[in-house]
Amino acid sequence: MSKSRAKGYRRITMGRDADNVLVRVENVSKYFGSFQALDDVSLDVNRGEVVVIIGPSGSGKSTLCRAINRLETIDSGVISIDGEPLPAEGKALADLRAEVGMVFQSFNLFSHKTILDNVTLGPIKVKKMKPAEAQELARGLLARVGLADQAEKFPAQLSGGQQQRAAIARALAMEPKVMLFDEPTSALDPEMITEVLDVMESLARGGMTMIVVTHEMGFAKKAADSVAFMADGKILERQSPEDFFAHPHTERARDFLNKILTH
Ligand SMILES: Nc1ncnc2c1ncn2[C@@H]1O[C@H](COP(=O)(O)OP(=O)(O)O)[C@@H](O)[C@H]1O
Ligand SMILES: [Mg+2]
Repeated sequence: MSKSRAKGYRRITMGRDADNVLVRVENVSKYFGSFQALDDVSLDVNRGEVVVIIGPSGSGKSTLCRAINRLETIDSGVISIDGEPLPAEGKALADLRAEVGMVFQSFNLFSHKTILDNVTLGPIKVKKMKPAEAQELARGLLARVGLADQAEKFPAQLSGGQQQRAAIARALAMEPKVMLFDEPTSALDPEMITEVLDVMESLARGGMTMIVVTHEMGFAKKAADSVAFMADGKILERQSPEDFFAHPHTERARDFLNKILTH
């Protein structure tokens, strides 16, 4: 992606009025027993915005993603998607959860189903789509992630990078409003990281709203509109990738960048 293109869609992040905000995390705290994993976290994500979350291990990045998808309850605060606070349970929760696509570090594909069936499962089961229609959708998505010719294979017959691209296609099949990625490349062999990041970059260019936990600084620099730095359950700073990498505001972020950039 060219830098000018990145700047083009960076404009959308300038205003944060209610209509523009798709994901709103407001003063969210979360405890595991007496341990506070999220400490008064607030994060607004605009439509079409790409936010990269970075920070040391244990800082609460996964917990935040899981809370946004309601895989984890929160103890205080509010999380809303498109103006709707996340419901606690039931059909309303299932409906809202379908609006949030999630891609994890491990691919989580069903091993006994073909790639095509993995992608059509959600639309058929949850969205009640007709199988033929779901297959057409799935084949289009598999083509988009470069897997058109792998549809009939089983996950174990694919490389890690291919499996992760299939997991992205599966999440997209639900037509989510926002995609969450939690360290999507950290379980991959180095030569497969790029092919997954390329798919994510193309999604970003296509205007998808994305929250991406990653330590891939190249991706952050190229595709992110903003970088949020987390430590100890808090978002310590959030700014454009250019500013963050050149002038991190906090000592913690400076330390963290020094550690990851010197290796
Ligand atoms: N289910 C859980 N029970 C107890 N502690 C947890 C649980 N999940 C996460 N934690 C703790 O919360 C903190 C934040 O974890 P996590 O969100 O996974 O961090 P990160 O993704 O930034 O590495 C860690 O100290 C972790 O041990
Ligand atoms: Mg994590």
